[in-house]
Amino acid sequence: MKIVYINTDPPSPGRAPSPGRAPSPGRTPSPGRASCPWRDAISQHLPEASFWIWDEDDFDPADVDYALVWNPPPGVLARFRHLKGIVNLGAGVDALLRDTTFPGTVALVRLVDPLLTRGMVEYAVHWVLHFHRDFHTYARHQRDHLWNPHPNADTAQRKIGILGMGALGQGVANALTSLGFASIAGWSRRAKNIAGVQSFCGDDSLEDFLNHSEILLCLLPLTDTTQGLINAQTLKHLPAGAFFINAGRGALVVDADLQAALASGHIQGAALDVVNEEPLSPNSAYWDLQNVFITPHIASLTSPLSASAAVATALHAWENGAIPDHIVDLNAGY
Ligand SMILES: NC(=O)c1ccc[n+]([C@@H]2O[C@H](COP(=O)([O-])OP(=O)(O)OC[C@H]3O[C@@H](n4cnc5c(N)ncnc54)[C@H](OP(=O)(O)O)[C@@H]3O)[C@@H](O)[C@H]2O)c1
Repeated sequence: MKIVYINTDPPSPGRAPSPGRAPSPGRTPSPGRASCPWRDAISQHLPEASFWIWDEDDFDPADVDYALVWNPPPGVLARFRHLKGIVNLGAGVDALLRDTTFPGTVALVRLVDPLLTRGMVEYAVHWVLHFHRDFHTYARHQRDHLWNPHPNADTAQRKIGILGMGALGQGVANALTSLGFASIAGWSRRAKNIAGVQSFCGDDSLEDFLNHSEILLCLLPLTDTTQGLINAQTLKHLPAGAFFINAGRGALVVDADLQAALASGHIQGAALDVVNEEPLSPNSAYWDLQNVFITPHIASLTSPLSASAAVATALHAWENGAIPDHIVDLNAGY
């Protein structure tokens, strides 16, 4: 089995390591061959495989069976003429599918990994609790030297809406249920049967779903149909004083509309891990909004050590003539 690894996500100051570019702790790179956590991790599962790093190793593209990719440069994947499968080393495939030369006849698997889900659960639970328990208000009170306790909201009554009930949305819903949140709604294309979660599906149900969502958490993929979904029209259906948490993709949001809703107080507060333009421009209005909390796309990061198990499972399936789990529907875009 011959694998090429393509990852051009540049590590930038302040950005957590992208999948696979960080040096592994305690390992000294051998002269002439840089350490690659993905190569090390994959070799644990597939010792017989050849693992080539694009732009570093010498190999014939025609020999490559599988590509493991994160943000490959446009046009590169089309050079591997005998690919049997592509694995995206993250959950979102929107950047990959923007490449007009993407080889649409090759099956693409996206990453579903317990550690990736756990990262998102931690991020989402943090912000849901933050808004639910009014910590944003107490932070403001501290700045104003105010000691002003008020009653805690009832967890069982708090209405939470999760846009996107896939691997991440379901993980978050289950964690919130276990904390006692008993009024959770989930929105997806197809109906779901998840204990403790009211399922809303399809565009016709969106308004009712939004009416329900005092805390709205977005875990949708970015596709042609979800782009700009959070706009003035949809935001107005949220209850007055709602909160918005976005860990899906920045382009799901029309920034001017969200900023207007934040300025008017219709949206009381927001936590944004993803924004339209990343990194967020130093001139963005978001930085200075008192009721907005920004993180630099770190809600959940891929760990080669953990995720290599899922990658190896997919490659084994292909090698055995089976269809791996988590195949991307190229028409739906996720
Ligand atoms: N911020 C971060 O650090 C970070 C990290 C990882 C992932 N992400 C983002 O999180 C996204 C979700 O990941 P995932 O693994 O949970 O994806 P997933 O398993 O593919 O789930 C996607 C969910 O969105 C729903 N959906 C898609 N299009 C829809 C539409 N038009 N209307 C209604 N529902 C729609 C799907 O509905 P069905 O269930 O009916 O198919 C599914 O429930 C990724 O695509 C990525 O953008 C962010």
